[in-house]
Amino acid sequence: MTKCAVITGITGQDGAYLAEILLGKGYAVHGIRQPLAVPDMDRLTELLGDDVARLHMHTADLTDPLSITKVLQAVQPDEIYNLAAQSHVHVSFDVPGQTLQVNAAGVIHILDSVRILGMQDRVRIFQASTSELFGDSQPPQTETSPMNPRSPYAAAKLYAYNLTRIYREAYKMHISNGIMFNHESPLRGEEFVTRKITMGVAAIVQGEQEWLRLGNLNARRDWSHARDIMQGAWSVLQQSEAGDYVLASGTAHTVREFATEAFMAAGIPLLWAGTGVNETGTDTRTGRIVVRVDPALFRPLEVEDLLGSPLKAQFRLGWRADIEFAELVKEMVEADLLKARERQSQAEGRLATYG
Ligand code: NAP
Ligand code: GDD
Repeated sequence: MTKCAVITGITGQDGAYLAEILLGKGYAVHGIRQPLAVPDMDRLTELLGDDVARLHMHTADLTDPLSITKVLQAVQPDEIYNLAAQSHVHVSFDVPGQTLQVNAAGVIHILDSVRILGMQDRVRIFQASTSELFGDSQPPQTETSPMNPRSPYAAAKLYAYNLTRIYREAYKMHISNGIMFNHESPLRGEEFVTRKITMGVAAIVQGEQEWLRLGNLNARRDWSHARDIMQGAWSVLQQSEAGDYVLASGTAHTVREFATEAFMAAGIPLLWAGTGVNETGTDTRTGRIVVRVDPALFRPLEVEDLLGSPLKAQFRLGWRADIEFAELVKEMVEADLLKARERQSQAEGRLATYG
């Protein structure tokens, strides 16, 4: 029997990879997209090509409960993956109310829609929880580590995490939290540090940009590939019992190390010098500074050290993150170099035609 899944946030990074995985497994895939007047299918088109036509797209907003109920009623899914969110931690300090509405109240709207429609005994739900819940908790963080949120984003996600546990116990619903550590890809939003770095490296190589402006270089993150983490999300919902799982690689690197690796993947060896806001990264071949620190990018509160322990997921799900750090960085740099070269040759083509 063909399984049917609804993905909220299908137009985001994770939504694209999950759609690819579920289509590959023969699912009927229904995606919820926001009613925005801007093109939002770029990631799906980049990853799926012609297969994008196999998706069933619905317009709804997580902050509009009836719009969610209507989609779930029409689709009658076997599985719901709630990936939609205001997902930028720094931005959440500027828009805490909107972050609360999408990331916390939005989850109530999904769970109560499922109950109102009488689907609670047969639908399985994946909630996109986050390592940000741990805040300043001692690494390595496990499913039982203390949760000390340090941003409006994490506070809203902690509400959602607790709500799913409450509904699981109170109404015996099959709802699981994937406590996902950072995961990246060539489809990562441009405002997150990894993609900002790989796009910056490509722009510097192509001569479009002189240097890269970064914030806290000391922050440490457990970075995996988004495709691996979404494979884990699917595995979580295939368990007969619902539960909460850390999905992480089990290795961590600083932002400085990510930048070093990314420049190296483009053939640029970096030398770091100075400290604090005066720290710089220099291209050792040319002596030019290519990374500077901008204190405007520091957060009101920082999460310094995230390192996940994926042991439970390894033992119970048989899951692990396959793609290692260096391979991930290389894939992202190469994809952005290709895009930068295409931009340049299009610009040259225009110049040749109209110049
Ligand atoms: P993303 O690229 O920012 O995607 C977020 C998605 O949510 C987009 O499709 C966005 O639509 C949609 N969305 C936002 N507000 C909405 C609303 N009011 N109604 C309906 N849809 C809405 O995020 P991601 O990296 O794919 O992450 C997916 C989920 O995992 C998020 O919940 C995030 O918080 C969580 N998470 C991510 C990571 C990570 O490292 N990537 C780690 C832990 C947890 P538009 O495209 O129209 O904006
Ligand atoms: N965005 C950004 N831009 N971050 C920077 C920069 C910069 O120029 N310079 C340094 N950083 C530091 C941030 O201060 C943070 O410590 C770290 O790089 C990672 O920042 P992001 O890439 O924005 O990701 P995040 O860890 O805050 O949040 C992501 O991962 C969470 C899981 O831990 C998001 O995907 C969240 O949605 C997700 O829950």
